[in-house]
Amino acid sequence: MNKPAILVVDDEERNIKLLKAMLSLENYELKEARNGEEALDLVARNEPDLILLDVMMPGLDGFEVCRRIKQSEKTRVIPVVMVTALREREHRIRALEAGADDFISKPVDQTELFLRVKSLLRIKTYHDDLKRNYSELADMHAQLRELEKAKEGLTHMVIHDLNSPLMAISSVIQLVLMEKENFSEKQVRFLQTSLDQCHDLNQQIQSLLDIHRMEEAKLKPQREETDMAGMVKEILSQFASRALLKRIDLSFDFIKPVPPVQMDHDLISRVVSNLLSNAIRYTPAGGRIQGSVDYLSEKGPLLICVRDTGPGLEPQYHERIFNKFEQVSMKKAGVTVGMSGVGLTFCKMAVEAHGGRIWVESGGQGKGCAFNVEIPM
Ligand SMILES: Nc1ncnc2c1ncn2[C@@H]1O[C@H](COP(=O)(O)OP(=O)(O)OP(=O)(O)O)[C@@H](O)[C@H]1O
Ligand SMILES: [Mg+2]
Repeated sequence: MNKPAILVVDDEERNIKLLKAMLSLENYELKEARNGEEALDLVARNEPDLILLDVMMPGLDGFEVCRRIKQSEKTRVIPVVMVTALREREHRIRALEAGADDFISKPVDQTELFLRVKSLLRIKTYHDDLKRNYSELADMHAQLRELEKAKEGLTHMVIHDLNSPLMAISSVIQLVLMEKENFSEKQVRFLQTSLDQCHDLNQQIQSLLDIHRMEEAKLKPQREETDMAGMVKEILSQFASRALLKRIDLSFDFIKPVPPVQMDHDLISRVVSNLLSNAIRYTPAGGRIQGSVDYLSEKGPLLICVRDTGPGLEPQYHERIFNKFEQVSMKKAGVTVGMSGVGLTFCKMAVEAHGGRIWVESGGQGKGCAFNVEIPM
């Protein structure tokens, strides 16, 4: 470790000599200044570890020098000991107000000087250690963030690149399915299931990409006039085969006729798809899923609800399921969870980007869920 540097400030040569002589018994690097200006200049150029500061000096007095040192962010941690012949209470108060850390009276007692200097230097060392650790931590944090960013970029690229082969696979399956009559019922069912899986995977890829874009504030809803009935019909046709396979009764009601709505068709349609795909996944065979679209008034808001007869959710999960990668273990209920727990995170971000909200209601375990989306018009 380097020798601690102590700056002695006094306008009288004799006092400087005396203090330096006393301190020379210890292993310190000693510096001196003859007035306030010189002291401030030295402190700014070469931060000492402690300052012994005379109070009465021509020009800038000790109080002012101390105040300036304590005002600067850079030098405020340097301990300042006021060396004063003035014993009066008033001077001590002024020194305290100026930010001094300690006092020592003239004539200076050597033992007292050693004790004060040692204890303040120890505190200064702790502070320096803390500062160094903090800055090392900050560096490590910055490095980790860089790595995290690089990793995210790579993941983003991989996810993005998965899309093209996936689209090719689903197109081929769709083409094959156009000639259904050439295949057995079982074969058609397998092909249909593969197509549904491709659809799920695609939905998940899109969710991940969009979550990333929304986190970077790069995705803004593109509002366009949307026909809700048409949108729902299209979504239902995507999920019909899966519902059939699980003997789930799937329906969607329009409580009132809904006029064309201004919203991002793609985003909201994927929100509804995610809710339906969850409902089908988590509802046991033979269950029932009922969707509804409603308007509170002419001016909205628009309310979309997807209600199922699945395992339901305990209240402690009602908020958490919207967090990224959050999945509730359903092993007991014998239900396999989805792929990665990003579907509802995407839904929340997409709905909130429309100024709306999404929430779940459930009577608890075994009582089914109702996922509600409210979008202001
Ligand atoms: N209808 C539902 N009934 C019961 N639990 C549900 C329902 N929908 C979602 N959950 C719970 O919320 C969790 C989060 O849902 P989310 O859609 O975000 O992820 P996931 O379906 O598991 O995976 P992903 O959507 O990424 O394929 C699910 O893992 C499940 O535990
Ligand atoms: Mg999901």
